[in-house]
Amino acid sequence: MLSERMQKAINDQINAELYSSYMYAAMSMYFQSVDMSGAAGWMNAQAKEELVHAEKFMNYVNERGGRVTLQAIEKPPSEWKSVLDTFEAALKHEQKVSSMINSLVTLARDEKDHMTDNFLQWYVAEQVEEEASAAEVVRKLKLIGDSGGGMFMIDNELGRRGLVPETSSGE
Ligand code: FEO
Repeated sequence: MLSERMQKAINDQINAELYSSYMYAAMSMYFQSVDMSGAAGWMNAQAKEELVHAEKFMNYVNERGGRVTLQAIEKPPSEWKSVLDTFEAALKHEQKVSSMINSLVTLARDEKDHMTDNFLQWYVAEQVEEEASAAEVVRKLKLIGDSGGGMFMIDNELGRRGLVPETSSGE
C-alpha cells in the first residue's frame, strides 16, 4: 500500500505529466500557426508521450491499491517568440520535470518504499532522453540562426519524428 504522502506526490506528478501534454499540444498549435508543420508534428508526438507518462503513473497507483485523483490542469501559454524560444521553453520544462522526478525518488527512499523507488527509475532514465532530445534541437536551431533554408531543413527533420513509431521511449 502506498503511504498517503507518496500517493499525494504521485497524484501531483500525474497532474504535471498531463500539464506537459497540454503544453506540448499548445506548442504544436503554435507551430501550426507559423507554418512549421514538421515541428508541430514533433510536439504532437511529445504531447502523446506525456499522456503515456501520466497513464503509467495511474496504473502504478492502482496496482498498489491507491487512489488516483485528477486535478485541474493549468492553462499553458499559447504564444512563443520564435522556434528557438519554444524549444528552449521545452528544455527548461523538462529540466523542471527531472527535478520533480528526483524529488519523488528522494521521498520514496525517505519512506523506504523500494517498490516506488524501483518504479521511478524508468522515469529517471526517460528524463535523460527527454532533456537530450530537446537540447539537441536547441543546439541545431542556434547553429541555423536566421537561415531560412536551415529552418526549412530542420522542420523536415523534426517532422520525421511524428512518422516513426516510438520504441525506445514512451512505453
Ligand atoms: Fe513526462 Fe517530458 O516528462
